[in-house]
Amino acid sequence: MGCVKMKTINKLNISGAMVYPLIEGGKGINGTDGKSSGAWAKEGGVGTISMVSPTEVSLEGTIIPEVFHEKIRAMRHREMVEYAIRGGISQAQIAHEISEGNGRIHINMLWEMADSEEVITRVLDGAKGLIHGVTCGAGLPYNLGKIASEHQVYYYPIISSARAMSILWKRSFKNYAEYLGGVVYEDPWLAGGHNGLSNAENPLQPERPYERLIALRQALKEIGLPELPIIIAGGVWSLSDWQDYIDNPELGNVAFQFGTRPMITKESPISDAWKMLMLRAKKGDVILQKFSPTGFFSSAIKNKFLGNLMRRKQAEINYSDTPTDEMTLLLPIAPHKAVYIRPEDKDKVEEQRRQGYSMIKETPDETLVFLTPNEWLEMQKERAECVGCLSQCQFSGWSRATGSTGKIPDPRTYCIHHTLMDIGHGGDIEDNLAFAGHNVYRFGQDPMYAHNHIPSVHELFKAILAGK
Ligand SMILES: Cc1cc2nc3c(=O)[nH]c(=O)nc-3n(C[C@H](O)[C@H](O)[C@H](O)COP(=O)(O)O)c2cc1C
Ligand code: SF4
Repeated sequence: MGCVKMKTINKLNISGAMVYPLIEGGKGINGTDGKSSGAWAKEGGVGTISMVSPTEVSLEGTIIPEVFHEKIRAMRHREMVEYAIRGGISQAQIAHEISEGNGRIHINMLWEMADSEEVITRVLDGAKGLIHGVTCGAGLPYNLGKIASEHQVYYYPIISSARAMSILWKRSFKNYAEYLGGVVYEDPWLAGGHNGLSNAENPLQPERPYERLIALRQALKEIGLPELPIIIAGGVWSLSDWQDYIDNPELGNVAFQFGTRPMITKESPISDAWKMLMLRAKKGDVILQKFSPTGFFSSAIKNKFLGNLMRRKQAEINYSDTPTDEMTLLLPIAPHKAVYIRPEDKDKVEEQRRQGYSMIKETPDETLVFLTPNEWLEMQKERAECVGCLSQCQFSGWSRATGSTGKIPDPRTYCIHHTLMDIGHGGDIEDNLAFAGHNVYRFGQDPMYAHNHIPSVHELFKAILAGK
């Protein structure tokens, strides 16, 4: 009996050139940059620079740290936007040089960032000819087609269902079909970072990607785009796992996006400590949860930071401002404030206090959570230093459009800018959010990483092409 030969992946036209359809997934903050994406493009694939607070590098090669001087949040927000634009342009120049003209360079933006459209527009203006495509996820990027087409670069919405693509097409993309380069299907149960689970989907009941991808291809056929590349993301480790998806006439043109796996490469900008945390991760260490201040689900490694949020959520109790049939017990929560809780929750309150969680704080859902005095101080400090990175933030209550979401700041969430900036620049790997895909445990099982070996992008790319 002969053995079945592994199907290799052929080059595909992506963003105007024939390249290997192997894509480095963009990762903010500082999870992918000019160096990592340039190296990926140099191999003949597609590198993706994150535009979420990219690091600015001067002409002399020194890093210019993001330091805020303004007193008013709206002004700090402007400082942040200007940093991002200068940083984005400098990273695109680095990527272009490293790529030596091979492959393609994309940029990635989180649509829910405040002023994401301005950042994309001005980076594309300032880095003309260096960037070939823009990918955009977290939210429905209606204006992406217009911005990309005006700059003659290709665009790639990141979606997690056929329905989202149909909506985007009808509402906007049909007017900008020429530069629609492909669509990224990101598995909402497996991918690292933010996840596009809709209300109709159960976070505890993963669905197989195959049927969802077929539905997406069907939707693309119906709108007249039967050959548009579908970029498969989320849980992609080795092409040998995806043999049924390659050269499959039902699925048509496909490409593969790698988010978690390229994080352990020599060129990956994250710290060695974060790389080691990923190398040691075991199956089940990545938790899909809803603590992000964006309101989206997201996937991260269960470390001290995530453990604290989970503990806080577990201890949550309901309250009412006025007594009800159920809420009859008066509980003082601040010097001049008392609320009503269920009598049976009294033990829970006492247990929290005994463990040092003596600060009782309200959430926008008429519940209470318990913090240590230090946690509360830290939370107040981060809110005071808010730079308005998101268009709407549950943690601080900031809204880019109106100044406030109108809801009380939610103590069950966290400042994503603060923590991702810190871990992305060598900060503590236990006290910060460590986004990772659910396949992260495979580092520990893959012989490529034995004895803590950290491959170069060249080594990884060759291995991926060989189906390893
Ligand atoms: C640390 C980390 C940060 C990420 N940041 C972003 C981001 O800023 N924007 C985005 O569109 N996707 C982001 N992603 C998603 C990746 O681009 C990619 O689609 C995803 O990781 C693929 O799934 P995988 O992790 O299973 O490979 C991030 C993923 C990780 C692990
Ligand atoms: S509190 Fe943090 S996450 Fe929220 S908008 Fe401000 S900087 Fe961004």
